[in-house]
Amino acid sequence: MDKVLILNGPNLNRLGTREPDVYGRESLEDLKKRLDKFGNKRGVSIRMEQSNHEGELVDLLHTAEEDCQGIVINPAAFTHYSYALRDAIASLSIPTVEVHLSNVHARESFRQTSVTAPVCVGQLSGFGFLGYEMAIDYLLRRNDSE
Ligand code: DQA
Repeated sequence: MDKVLILNGPNLNRLGTREPDVYGRESLEDLKKRLDKFGNKRGVSIRMEQSNHEGELVDLLHTAEEDCQGIVINPAAFTHYSYALRDAIASLSIPTVEVHLSNVHARESFRQTSVTAPVCVGQLSGFGFLGYEMAIDYLLRRNDSE
């Protein structure tokens, strides 16, 4: 695996100032720096994108197949109702892991439904930034054992 796409959905550009008691005080730029470092250590190139627009996320998923071998997605609020993202993930031949910073299962009931998780290989929820690293490691190790 040489390249992993990290895709972040709506409002995640506001990390650091958005509900810091839930999502922490670190920014999306901090996440990018951390994952770039992590990727260097693991020998994998990391491309990170964020969009507030459903269609743009769909396009990014489609094109990821051209040069990435795996995807880590935090679909944010789209998790709970976007069949367009679900269908886009299902259409791919590369594996996708769903990640949430917060433990969505311990929050409001609407967050406990994910329409995207069933078409992902798995979901990590509640581990903050570490969850993204765990997802990348999973993709790398899954590939090793194939
Ligand atoms: C989130 C959880 C979602 O319910 C929420 O809409 C987000 C962030 C998380 O990372 O914990 O925007 O995906």
